[in-house]
Amino acid sequence: MKYIFREDLFTQKAPKISVPIARRMMCLNESCMDPVPLVKDSFSRILQQTSINRYCSDISSELQRELAAYCGVPMEQVLFANGADDMIYHIFVAAREDRESFAVSPAPSYFDYKTFANEVGMQVRFLDLNEDFGFDVDRYLAMANDPHCKLAILCNPNNPTGNLMKTEDVIYFIEKIKDKPILLDETYYEFSKVSFIEEIEKHPNLILIRSFSKAFSAAGLRFGYAISSHESIRELRKVQTTFHTSLLVQAFALAILQNKTLFLNHIANVIALRDDLFTWMQAQSGIEVFPSATNFLSFRVPQRHKEMSDYLLKDGIAVRDVSTHPLLKDCLRVSISCREDVEAFKTSISAFLRV
Ligand SMILES: Cc1ncc(COP(=O)(O)O)c(C=O)c1O
Repeated sequence: MKYIFREDLFTQKAPKISVPIARRMMCLNESCMDPVPLVKDSFSRILQQTSINRYCSDISSELQRELAAYCGVPMEQVLFANGADDMIYHIFVAAREDRESFAVSPAPSYFDYKTFANEVGMQVRFLDLNEDFGFDVDRYLAMANDPHCKLAILCNPNNPTGNLMKTEDVIYFIEKIKDKPILLDETYYEFSKVSFIEEIEKHPNLILIRSFSKAFSAAGLRFGYAISSHESIRELRKVQTTFHTSLLVQAFALAILQNKTLFLNHIANVIALRDDLFTWMQAQSGIEVFPSATNFLSFRVPQRHKEMSDYLLKDGIAVRDVSTHPLLKDCLRVSISCREDVEAFKTSISAFLRV
């Protein structure tokens, strides 16, 4: 067949998530908590103010106001979309100039940066993280300073390693890159409590990415957003479609924000569970667990990670294999959200390690 679309698409694969469906989904960093019962009264009140037969609703500006207030920035500095992924995708759309354009990212990092870059006809060049999962900031700067580099990415805390980058490295990097967007992915911000939001005033090219999928227990909602300077947000808005986020999604996101304390309280439990599990895993021989500032833990099971993953699955527990990058050889990642799942995970691991 002759190409009827862009030639480079022809050899690409469509995005697809391949994880098993298990009783305990501990593989996608989701929440165990169903948000519907928590927000249903607010949601139905908001729906009464919204007409689904219309394109526009006042709830959009209300949501924009609430979101900006939650972030502590003016309304013009926030832009929402259908999940952090959708926002990231549109940053690639806005950043790409020509076939030579590429983005840079440390590796291993969030898998889908490459997916979205390729979708818009851009490449990603990777710099391997150091052994301690930090990054070599001078080498990264050299890559980002290439004239064909149109976007520099940092994920903080990083998925799948779970760690925060050193603040001084991030600041040093941001200070030096002035002429292109810097995408700083803070999807796990509420678990790490570390943000570079205050840098936006000095660095209008800095774009933070956040999500409702993790902290707000709403992965299926598909709601995420960018925080940046007014100028960058104005440019990003130009690559979105006119009516880009369904009013139903906006209504639910607003209902979550009106009840945000319920979710933020749950985060404290997740952090405590994560820290307890980390300590427990550290005490198990046959496992090397890495510190995390997120809602997941990555860990190494030398030579036996596939075997362990299959064993867990037989017990109804799905974890993620993150072993493709050499730095994470033999590694799995487990999402942490509720005690019941964590206890089942510990029981299954203990039994496995005894075999
Ligand atoms: C680092 C990172 N960025 C972005 C996303 C996508 O988030 P969303 O569900 O809001 O699209 C994820 C999801 O796992 C992630 O880990």
